[in-house]
Amino acid sequence: MKVIKLENIDFSYPEGIDVFKDLNFSISKGEKIGIMGANGSGKTTLFYLIMGLLKPNQGKIIAWDEERTREEHFKELRRRVGFLFQDSDDQLFAPTVEEDISFGPFNLGKNLKEVRNIVDDLCERLNIADLKKRITFKLSWGQKRLVALAGILAMEPEVLILDEPTASIDQEVRERITSYLKATDQTLLITSHDEGFLKDISSKIYQLKDSKFIPGV
Ligand SMILES: Nc1ncnc2c1ncn2[C@@H]1O[C@H](COP(=O)(O)OP(=O)(O)OP(=O)(O)O)[C@@H](O)[C@H]1O
Ligand SMILES: [Mg+2]
Repeated sequence: MKVIKLENIDFSYPEGIDVFKDLNFSISKGEKIGIMGANGSGKTTLFYLIMGLLKPNQGKIIAWDEERTREEHFKELRRRVGFLFQDSDDQLFAPTVEEDISFGPFNLGKNLKEVRNIVDDLCERLNIADLKKRITFKLSWGQKRLVALAGILAMEPEVLILDEPTASIDQEVRERITSYLKATDQTLLITSHDEGFLKDISSKIYQLKDSKFIPGV
């Protein structure tokens, strides 16, 4: 079953920068797809289109067999698809780390005890337990990425879309993230400039170039 499908997408930024012309892409349930591509090839733009943060000039965005056009459609999609922004400053919003990671699971109706367990477990796994009480905006770049990732994983979405999850992440935590992503049965769509990382976790790797997905690296 195709979880997400993009059909004949054209997209330009308002300034007139053409990014996609007749782009087609799909990912099936349980697939783990890695996307590489030069700076500016459109990886982040592709993710913004899927999440409904940008609108295509033409073409269809289909998720779970339903075409998504209006904001309500994308709201439903965002409950099922966790998206790690390339820049964590676009993601983090709560004053403290603990509050930031707790927000999603609270919103999903979990109780205090359940939320605490989820937060503690993720902080342990991502090696950020000592950051729980810290102010999010004062963290280092890499620490912010880990907190943002924890915030997404806390919601246990069916699909994870991760825009360069290992950028600025140290070796030890990169290995923890790799083993999590290898073990999970969540559908994964991940971009990275780190070929070794993508090879470790993906069942397929594509190069995005001129609106085409070319298999292999
Ligand atoms: N907000 C914006 N307004 C105008 N042009 C943009 C905007 N964001 C990106 N672009 C342009 O769109 C194209 C695709 O950018 P995008 O960020 O999607 O690339 P990317 O593949 O994610 O690159 P990177 O590997 O550097 O993250 C580039 O030419 C970029 O300059
Ligand atoms: Mg990008």
